Parts: sequence; structure tokens; C-alpha cells
Amino acid sequence: MSETEQRAAPPAGLDLSVRIGSLLMSNPVGVASGTFGYGEEYDELVHIDALGALYTKAVTLEPRKGNPAPRLVETPMGLINSIGLANPGVEQFLEKKLPLLSRRRCAIIVNVAGSTEDDYAAVIGRIEERLASAAPGSEGRSGVDGYEINVSCPNVHRGGMSFGTDPALIERLTRALKKRTARPLVLKLSPNVTDIADVARAAEAGGADAISCINTVVGMVIDTERLRPAIARGTGGLSGPAIRPVGVAATYKVSRAVGIPVIGLGGISRADDAIQYLLAGAQAVQIGTSLFSNPGAPQEVLEGIAAWMGRHSVKSVGDIRLMLREPA
Ligand SMILES: Cc1cc2nc3c(=O)[nH]c(=O)nc-3n(C[C@H](O)[C@H](O)[C@H](O)COP(=O)(O)O)c2cc1C
Repeated sequence: MSETEQRAAPPAGLDLSVRIGSLLMSNPVGVASGTFGYGEEYDELVHIDALGALYTKAVTLEPRKGNPAPRLVETPMGLINSIGLANPGVEQFLEKKLPLLSRRRCAIIVNVAGSTEDDYAAVIGRIEERLASAAPGSEGRSGVDGYEINVSCPNVHRGGMSFGTDPALIERLTRALKKRTARPLVLKLSPNVTDIADVARAAEAGGADAISCINTVVGMVIDTERLRPAIARGTGGLSGPAIRPVGVAATYKVSRAVGIPVIGLGGISRADDAIQYLLAGAQAVQIGTSLFSNPGAPQEVLEGIAAWMGRHSVKSVGDIRLMLREPA
């Protein structure tokens, strides 16, 4: 057995696999959109094939330069970003990123963003068109195993209000996108709403295969000497350990509102964080901001989950969500 196979193999007797619609992931630990690019920068640092899934940086119809700098600021136990979905656009994604992604052995979930329903549909339509005509990569992989729909973008048809805050829009968008692809569709929800469970139910009604929960929390830091916000745009998205309890609570709520799998994220840096999400009801997790300080986090978290399962005599990772003693 090669070193790669040894490291990717789960400990004997444990089932770490996760099913999202028609997709079977080898394990529950993925890397979050926007914190891992399309993988290339991490090749030397992370055993990418051993990940459960790689969620790509957002892909939009047109290239986007993103927001003006400064667009990142550190906060206690967190980071605020206002990157503005900087990405090369779907055509460059197809030319430059897809060939590399099709050589990966982990699940590849393409994160999609847009300002209108048509934008999202066009990105998925264009990718599907290419996949239908392209020769598969190594081991018959296409490089796209599913889509994660980032609905936190402002909807230009609705005066900039985010898709993610309107359940009716979410249901309509999901329904429209399901017609464009047979691959699993994961709706990634914003916590910046009155009731995230309402939005999750709408996504499920539209045909979503899973929910990712959560995207960043709106935050602001003010520079008191320069008398201006530390981020050029004013507010940004807070991520990292500071938001973990928000994400765990959202996962708990959403997993009780829908029957489809929930993928939990927000502030995971250690196995214990991931296990909290799994106990709250998630079937898989993603690691984002903590990759910046510890690219080894996914491997450590996966090993920690396996060790915890051993200690608690759990054979299948999917059973962890059934183990929480419900609050009074
Ligand atoms: C620098 C940066 C860029 C991000 N870009 C995206 C993106 O393109 N699409 C998306 O859905 N989420 C994006 N996110 C949100 C993350 O995927 C994740 O939902 C959030 O950071 C919470 O997880 P974490 O605390 O583990 O980072 C980004 C986050 C950061 C920090």
C-alpha cells in the first residue's frame, strides 16, 4: 500500500464516509470556500486527496477583482474579510482550474455566486456544458462532484438585498438550479437572517440535497485613530473561532428543521469543534479560517474525530448526530 493510500485509509472498523445526495465522500472533513482557493497553493502543505471534500473559491459568470483594500482585519479569535468574491470567472475556471481539479481524488464541490438567478444558472450551465463534452480526468473524475450555492451575495434585482435572507427567493433559485444539473446541490446559508430554519426549509422545498451552515457573520472594526472602518467597505464577514457557537447553534436548529444533510462550519480548528457540529446535527464539516494558521488542521481534525469515535464506541460518523442528549 502506498503512503497516500495508507494516510487516506480510515482506521479499521470505522465508517467515516458521508453521503450527500448521490455523492459519497470518503470522510466528513472538507476545506471551506474562499480559504483554500482551488487547491494549488496548498499542494505542498495539505494531503488534498485525503480530504473529504474541497469546496472551491466562489466562481461567478464574469471575472471579479473584488473589493478595495484593506479587505481583511483580525479581531479577537476571528477575522473579518470583505474580499468581494474576487475570482477569475467561469471561463478561466474551466480553462485553468478544472484540469487540476479533475486530477484530485477527494470530492470537489464548486462554490457558485451571482447577483441574479440567471447568473447562478449560467455558471452551472456553462460548467455542465463543458463536463458533457470533456474527456474525464484520471480515474474517470470530472473535477466537479457537486455545487455549493453561496446565497449571501446581494441580489441586484432586489435592490441589493441578499438572496439568503428571502426564503421565497431561495426556493425559486434552488428549483431553477436543480434543472441545470444532476449533481448534488448544497445551499450555503447566511446566519445574518431572522430565522435560518425558514431559509433552510425553503432550500429543501426547492430540491436542495444539503445545507452548508454557516457563512460569515456581519462584523465591523473601527480604527479609532484614523476615525474610519478598518475594512475599506465598512462592514465585512466575521469568521474563525469567534463564530463557532453561532454556527453550532445554527446547525442544531437547521438539522431539526430539514431532512437533508447539514454540513457544519464556522470556527472549526480542532477535533472537539468539529464533534460539536456533528453532535449538533451535522453529517460533515468544513474548516476555513484556521487553515491560515494551521494547514494541518483537516488531518488533525479527522484523526481526532476517529479517536473520539473509538473512545465512544461509535462505528459510523453519521450516527454521531443521534447521540446528543437534548437540552431540557
Ligand atoms: C477570506 C475568506 C474568503 C471567503 N470566500 C468565500 C466564498 O468565496 N464563498 C463562500 O461561500 N464563502 C466564503 N467564505 C466563507 C467561508 O467559506 C466560511 O463559511 C466562513 O469563513 C466560516 O468558516 P470558518 O470560521 O471556518 O472560516 C470566505 C471566508 C474567508 C475568511
